[in-house]
Formats: sequence, structure tokens, C-alpha cells
Amino acid sequence: MKVTSYKLQVTSGKIQEARYILYFVSCILLLASCILFFPSDALAIKKTREEIEASKRCVLCHNQISPGVVNDWEKSNHAKASVTCIDCHQADSTDADARKHEGEVISAIVSPKDCSRCHPKQVMEFNESLHSKALSFIQNLEGERAGDDALAYKVEGKAAAVMGCEKCHGTVIKVKNGILDKETWPNNGIGRINPDGSKGSCSACHTRHLFSIAEARTPDICGTCHMGPDHPQYEIYMESKHGVIYNSERQKWNMDVASSSWDTKYFRAPTCATCHMSGIGELEPTHNISDRLSWELEWPQSEKTNDWKGKRDKMQRACLSCHSKTHVEGYYQQFDNAVTLYNDEYYKPIKKDMDELYKLGYLTKDKFDEEIEFEFFEYWHHEGRRARMGASMMGPDYAQWHGFYELAKRRLKLKNMIREIMEKKGKGK
Ligand code: HEC
Ligand code: HEC
Ligand code: HEC
Ligand code: HEC
Ligand code: HEC
Ligand code: HEC
Ligand code: HEC
Ligand code: HEC
Repeated sequence: MKVTSYKLQVTSGKIQEARYILYFVSCILLLASCILFFPSDALAIKKTREEIEASKRCVLCHNQISPGVVNDWEKSNHAKASVTCIDCHQADSTDADARKHEGEVISAIVSPKDCSRCHPKQVMEFNESLHSKALSFIQNLEGERAGDDALAYKVEGKAAAVMGCEKCHGTVIKVKNGILDKETWPNNGIGRINPDGSKGSCSACHTRHLFSIAEARTPDICGTCHMGPDHPQYEIYMESKHGVIYNSERQKWNMDVASSSWDTKYFRAPTCATCHMSGIGELEPTHNISDRLSWELEWPQSEKTNDWKGKRDKMQRACLSCHSKTHVEGYYQQFDNAVTLYNDEYYKPIKKDMDELYKLGYLTKDKFDEEIEFEFFEYWHHEGRRARMGASMMGPDYAQWHGFYELAKRRLKLKNMIREIMEKKGKGK
């Protein structure tokens, strides 16, 4: 008996000791985790007394001048984290767009470079994506891809391109005497070139001044640019099963969850962001929307992207949170077949004939000065893209009736036009 009780004492003494050690260790751990996990974002927003006073002035006065701005900001997570007007709008007096304003130096534009002070990861990933290059890309394009900004100026007129192409793709924002040039701003195109040289606009998806994560997850925000006859991703999504589920249940989904814990318990079907950006299952979230694509579907003739297998694997991992491997692999096989059918049976033969017309001098080198050039453009740029994109994103109506059916019809028309030109011009020679 004695022995046992002694043992018991010793044990309880040890338990006591272990408890003290545990308390000590957990205190250290708590302290360490406070230091380690204290959001680095919040660390970056220390302000001087003057800055705090100035911020109050911005808010008070702008509450009268532009209450909409202040309302939005007050509801944002930025306001909750004490990120104020001055943290974003403060500028260096040497910045091209810096201006004196109520005793402070500010600029109206808050570029990705400004956001990168606190969100370096998102900005880095955005910079790696095709979104950040959306303007430089159309400026440099020549020839048959027909995406040249200058070409649009020539064919449609500059004012048309400013209100069209450049609202989605971006423009070079110019500054005159510290004031933003009215010909170039406002513009929130996805690849605009900012006065500080940085590319893009974060408010293309996180509108000011709410900067909400929930809004960026809706298909509607992507749909401001990704819609219409030439890239109807929005319409395709809305008619897919995924879009139908989203529409019938969106009110019940919590779209506000931080990236780190956003997962299938909060939604039953993916939105654009889920497949192209979110962290879902084992996938890491990313602002590089090019990172999960195995095909270039926007090109006249589709080709695989660099490292396409790795990219495809990432997208498929998103599907696998909700579908089986057989389902996903089967779907990709059907999708690949549709892209190959378009390339081989629709694009290549007509392209060969068009090249022949240019080579023989039956068509001028200028673009869009002959009817057949508009026909051929719509063939790949509208119908050809619709067929491929309908196939990639579960929209059978776009794959079929807005896609391959229209392609088949216009292929016949183009063949007839080509034959007529050959006959007419051939006789003249
Ligand atoms: C005493 C009033 C007042 C204070 C204080 C004030 N503003 Fe303004 N702000 C204005 C007025 C007036 C305008 C011009 C409104 C307009 O153009 O419609 C303006 C315009 C702006 C613009 C748009 C500039 C442009 O080029 O379009 C920004 C950005 C801005 N303020 C930010 C700030 C910030 C940041 C602070 C604090 C450092 C601040 N304001 C403090 C009154 C004020
Ligand atoms: C998280 C960063 C951020 C914060 C905080 C912020 N802004 Fe802005 N603000 C922006 C961005 C981004 C734009 C859009 C300008 C652009 O890049 O085209 C903008 C635009 C503006 C404009 C011009 C808007 C228009 O439509 O004419 C005003 C005025 C302005 N901000 C005032 C304020 C005031 C006042 C506060 C504080 C209540 C504030 N901002 C807080 C980022 C911020
Ligand atoms: C001075 C630091 C700072 C700057 C500059 C800043 N942010 Fe933030 N941002 C924060 C903090 C802090 C949070 C809150 C983090 C949290 O709630 O976990 C945040 C949160 C966000 C969120 C998530 C909001 C949500 O609904 O959960 C978005 C989106 C965002 N910022 C975008 C931007 C953009 C775009 C810019 C530039 C126009 C910008 N931020 C500039 C510090 C900053
Ligand atoms: C302000 C306009 C705009 C918005 C908003 C927008 N995009 Fe884009 N997106 C573009 C443009 C323009 C391109 C084409 C860029 C290029 O090829 O030069 C593009 C290209 C893409 C691509 C193809 C990238 C590649 O490498 O081929 C994907 C995927 C994409 N966007 C997804 C999205 C998603 C998802 C959203 C919403 C969360 C979204 N975009 C919001 C304008 C936008
Ligand atoms: C409604 C928004 C919008 C307008 C307006 C718009 N685009 Fe685009 N553009 C896009 C989107 C979105 C894509 C990406 C399509 C995709 O990846 O499937 C794109 C793709 C492109 C591409 C292909 C880039 C690549 O990666 O191969 C070119 C070139 C282009 N656009 C040029 C233009 C020109 C020139 C104009 C004006 C005549 C214009 N766009 C008007 C949104 C727009
Ligand atoms: C194409 C649309 C799009 C653009 C452009 C965009 N974002 Fe986002 N952003 C999103 C989406 C979607 C999410 C939510 C991703 C998810 O589901 O986890 C997000 C989330 C965020 C978050 C919250 C991350 C977290 O951990 O909760 C921050 C911060 C942020 N974005 C900053 C930025 C900054 C800075 C820029 C400009 C470089 C930017 N975003 C541009 C769509 C966009
Ligand atoms: C179920 C997942 C899913 C959803 C939801 C989804 N996409 Fe996609 N998207 C894909 C797949 C898969 C591809 C083809 C990927 C490949 O090439 O391997 C693709 C391709 C694209 C492309 C590239 C076209 C190109 O030029 O190469 C764009 C742009 C795009 N999606 C935008 C969107 C937009 C905008 C939405 C919402 C309106 C959306 N996606 C919704 C899975 C999705
Ligand atoms: C968040 C869960 C989720 C994700 C992620 C997701 N899906 Fe779905 N998907 C669903 C649900 C739910 C349905 C409706 C199933 C039904 O019809 O009963 C569906 C339907 C479909 C359908 C049409 C119905 C069928 O079985 O033929 C296809 C095809 C499809 N998904 C493919 C994909 C592919 C490919 C991806 C990845 C690129 C993907 N899905 C990502 C949930 C998801």
C-alpha cells in the first residue's frame, strides 16, 4: 500500500512539475506566436502622430465632399485594420503624379506598387500573369493576330479604342503638371501602365473603396471583361451546371472567408475565381490566372502552353475536390478532342487558302480593307474561340450552336468567297 501511495505521490509531483513546464512552454509559445503570426500587414501600418491627424482630416472633409468614398472605406477590412486614406494615397514629392493637397502630398492613383507595401505576394503573382501584360501585349502585336491597338485606332478610330479596348486592356496613364490627363484617366484596365511604371489595376477586381474579397470571387466581376461574342466566359459559366448552382444558392454561401480557409464547405460549385485563383484542397491560392492553363485558347490556332502538364495538373486538383479522377480525365479528353478538331478541320485549311491569296497578291497587305478579312477574323476570333471556350468550361450551347455550328456555316461561306476571288483575280492575270 505504502509503496503504491509513495509512487502515487511521486507521480503527482511529477505531474505538478510537468504542469509548470507546460505553463512555461505554452507562455513562450503564445509569445512566439504573437510575434510570428501577428499579421505582417498590420505591422506595416504604423503611423506617426502627424499622419494620424492628417488621416482624420481626410476622413472628416471627404465625408462632406465625397461621402460615397468614406462610406465604402468605413465598411472595408482596411478601416478595421486602421489602414487609412493616407496609407494608400500618400505620395513622394518626386512621383510624376504627386500633388499638394490640404497640406499633404498625395496622388489619386494607388497602383499595385503602392499595394505591394503590404501585399507583396499578391502583387508578385499578378505581375507574373498575362493580366499584367494585357496592354503591352496588344501594343506589340502585328499582322494576322489583328490585336494591334494602333490597328484599332486606324480601323475604328481612336475614341472607340479608348472607350473599348483600353477599358478592358488598359492604357498608358499620362500626367500633365501633376494632374492626370483626362484622355487617359479614369481607366481601370487590367494591364494599364501607371505613372510609377507599375502595371495593372487591382481595383479591376477589388473595386474601391471596399476592396472586398467576396466581390472578387463573384463571376460578375470577371464578366465585366470576360464576356461578349469573342470571349463569352461569363455567359458560358452562367449556363454551365456550376453557374446554375451558383445562381440558385449564392445567398447561402459565405464568400468572405480569408483565402487560407476558403474551401468546399463554403460552396457547392466553383466560380471563375475558384478554378483559376483560389486555394482549394491542396492547391495554393494565386493571383497568377495563367498558372492553371494547358492551352492557349485565345489564339487563332491553339497551342499548348509552356509546362502545360504541370499547369493542367493544378487545375485538375481543383476539380478533384468535387469530382472523381475518371470524371475529370474524361472531361479533359473530350475537351482536347474539340480543340484538335477546331485546329485541324476548321482553322488550318482556311488559313492555308488565305495565305495563298496574300501570296498571289489577290488581297492587299493592309488588314481590314477587304470584306473577307472581316469574315476570316470572326471565324477564328468569335466562333472559333466560342467553340473552344464552350468546350473548356462546360457550356455545350457555346461549344455547339454558338461555336462549331457557326464555324461549319462560315467555313462554307469562306470557301466560296476564296473560290470567287481566285476565279475573278485569276482571269485578270
Ligand atoms: C478640407 C477638405 C479636404 C481635406 C482635408 C482633404 N481633401 Fe481630398 N479633396 C478635397 C476636394 C474639395 C477634392 C476635389 C473634389 C473633386 O474633384 O470633386 C479632393 C480630391 C481628392 C482626391 C482626388 C484627386 C484627383 O486628382 O482626382 C483624392 C485622392 C483625395 N482628395 C485624397 C485626400 C486625402 C488622402 C486626404 C488626407 C491626406 C485628403 N484628400 C484631405 C477636399 C479635401
Ligand atoms: C487600400 C488603399 C486605399 C485606401 C485606404 C483609400 N483609397 Fe482612395 N483610392 C484607392 C484606389 C486604388 C483608387 C482608384 C484610383 C486609381 O488607381 O485609378 C482610389 C481613388 C480615390 C479617389 C478618386 C475616386 C474617384 O472615383 O474619383 C478619391 C477621392 C479617394 N480615393 C479618396 C480617398 C479617401 C478620402 C480615403 C480615406 C477615407 C481613401 N481614398 C482611402 C485606394 C485607396
Ligand atoms: C498599409 C498597408 C496596406 C496597404 C497599402 C494596402 N492594404 Fe490591403 N490590407 C491591409 C490589411 C492590414 C488588411 C486586412 C488583413 C486581414 O483582415 O487579414 C488588408 C486587406 C485587403 C484585402 C482583403 C479584404 C477582405 O475582404 O478580406 C484586399 C482585397 C486588399 N487588402 C487589397 C488591397 C489593395 C488592392 C491595395 C492597393 C490599392 C491595398 N490592399 C493596400 C493592408 C494594406
Ligand atoms: C478589367 C478587365 C478584366 C477583368 C475584370 C478580368 N480580366 Fe481576365 N483578362 C483580361 C484581359 C484583357 C485578358 C487578356 C490578356 C492578354 O492576353 O493580353 C485576360 C486574360 C485572362 C485569362 C487568360 C490568361 C492566359 O494566360 O491566357 C484568364 C484565365 C483570366 N483572364 C481570368 C480572369 C478571372 C478569373 C477574372 C475574375 C476573377 C478576370 N480574369 C477578370 C481582362 C480582365
Ligand atoms: C470587354 C473587354 C474587352 C474589350 C473591349 C477588348 N478586349 Fe481584347 N481581350 C479581352 C479579354 C477578356 C481577352 C482574353 C480572352 C481569352 O484569354 O480568352 C482579350 C484578348 C485579346 C487579345 C489576345 C491576347 C493573347 O493573349 O493572345 C488581343 C490581341 C486583344 N484582346 C486585343 C484587343 C483589341 C485591339 C481591342 C479593341 C479593338 C480589344 N481587345 C477589346 C477583353 C477585351
Ligand atoms: C482578376 C481579379 C483580381 C485582381 C486583378 C486582383 N485580385 Fe486580389 N483577389 C482576387 C480573388 C478572386 C481573391 C480571393 C482568392 C481566394 O478565393 O482565395 C483575392 C484576394 C486578395 C487578397 C486577400 C488574400 C487573403 O489572404 O485573404 C488580397 C490582399 C488581394 N487579393 C490583393 C490584391 C492586390 C494587391 C491586387 C493588385 C495587384 C489584386 N488583389 C488584384 C481577385 C483579384
Ligand atoms: C470548373 C472550373 C472553371 C470555371 C468555373 C471557370 N473556368 Fe475558365 N477555364 C477552365 C478550364 C479547365 C480552362 C481550360 C484550361 C486549359 O487550357 O487547360 C479554362 C479556360 C479559361 C480561359 C482561357 C482561355 C484562353 O484564352 O486560353 C479564360 C480566359 C477563362 N477560363 C476565364 C474564366 C472566367 C472569366 C470564368 C467565369 C465567368 C471561368 N473561366 C470559369 C475552368 C474553369
Ligand atoms: C466545388 C465543387 C466543384 C468543383 C471544384 C468543380 N465542380 Fe464540376 N460540378 C460540381 C457539381 C456539384 C456539379 C453538378 C453535378 C450534377 O450534375 O449532379 C458539377 C457539374 C460538372 C459537370 C457537368 C455534369 C456532369 O457530370 O457531366 C462537368 C462536366 C464538370 N462539373 C466538370 C468539372 C471540371 C472539369 C472541374 C475542374 C476544372 C470542375 N467540374 C470543378 C462541383 C464542382
